[in-house]
Amino acid sequence: MYASPAVGTAPAKVIIVGEHFVVHGKPAVAMAIGMRSKVYAERSGKDLEIHSNAIPAAGIFGGDKFEEIRGGPEAEAVLKPVKLAADSVAAKLGITGFGLRLKVDSPIPTGVGLGSSASVAVSTISATAKAFGRTLSREEIRELASSSEAHAHGRPSGIDQTICAHGGIITYWRGMGFKHARSAHALKLVVGNTRIRRSTGEMVGKVSRFFESHPREAERLAREAGEIAEEAINAITEGDIAKLGVLMDENQILLEKVGVSTPELEKLVKAARGAGALGAKLTGGGGGGCMIALSRPEETNKVFQAIREVGGDAYLVETDTEGVT
Ligand code: PMV
Repeated sequence: MYASPAVGTAPAKVIIVGEHFVVHGKPAVAMAIGMRSKVYAERSGKDLEIHSNAIPAAGIFGGDKFEEIRGGPEAEAVLKPVKLAADSVAAKLGITGFGLRLKVDSPIPTGVGLGSSASVAVSTISATAKAFGRTLSREEIRELASSSEAHAHGRPSGIDQTICAHGGIITYWRGMGFKHARSAHALKLVVGNTRIRRSTGEMVGKVSRFFESHPREAERLAREAGEIAEEAINAITEGDIAKLGVLMDENQILLEKVGVSTPELEKLVKAARGAGALGAKLTGGGGGGCMIALSRPEETNKVFQAIREVGGDAYLVETDTEGVT
């Protein structure tokens, strides 16, 4: 099995500033990080067999039926986004009744805001196309990941699959595309993980309800978030990390106001700042999940340790410029 399979691989991501407000029309800044999912694909039989270690599950999709191999009653739901990603390739290439075996191998923690589902969807699409002798462009892959991501998250802005497909650091506008930052240097961040898994769709719903119940305040916060994102991309381009840190702190306040921060996230944020971080904030959907901290290189180790001392997992990450391959 998998003697010489096709391989697709893609990075995870962090949102540096602008999450949630991006769903409501403002720009956000995201960065691909060097934690990569890998998907192996080989043609086989008539059905779609998927084995995943991301959330341990395996099973076979054949016609309308699903046969579980591993993972219990949850297996079908866990594997469905991977199936949708593979289906999107078959539809694009006009292949019907295709047989494929996929193996998902991802070190990216799931449900904590690091884009694991988008990374796996993008890797799956790349690997599936290669298994059928085609290499898709990054942009084609990004587009094809939409159905899988919509299934996983409700109505996502599309930022996750965009950054996982294209890599680097981008400014993203919902429905209007993205722009790569002209950052000369890789940006290093410490990620702190509360290990509290939550649903991005639910957190997006919570913020949408805030926009409905407090329209004037929400508009004001959104305007500020948009300005923060624009200033952040300038700070990144200029290599001004002190400025970027201040903007991250300001963004955290906005996220607290719309109700997606939690005491567990704030504990890690406080520990990072106490250890000398220039800025720290939650990243992604919030409600648990991860935070990021920016520090001067000489302070990074202290920040990393401080996050661990208050009970978080910590990862040192930097810009991944490769995107999907
Ligand atoms: O999937 P997460 O938790 O990384 O969050 C994605 C970013 C949000 O802005 C919260 C949602 C979206 O669709 O943009």
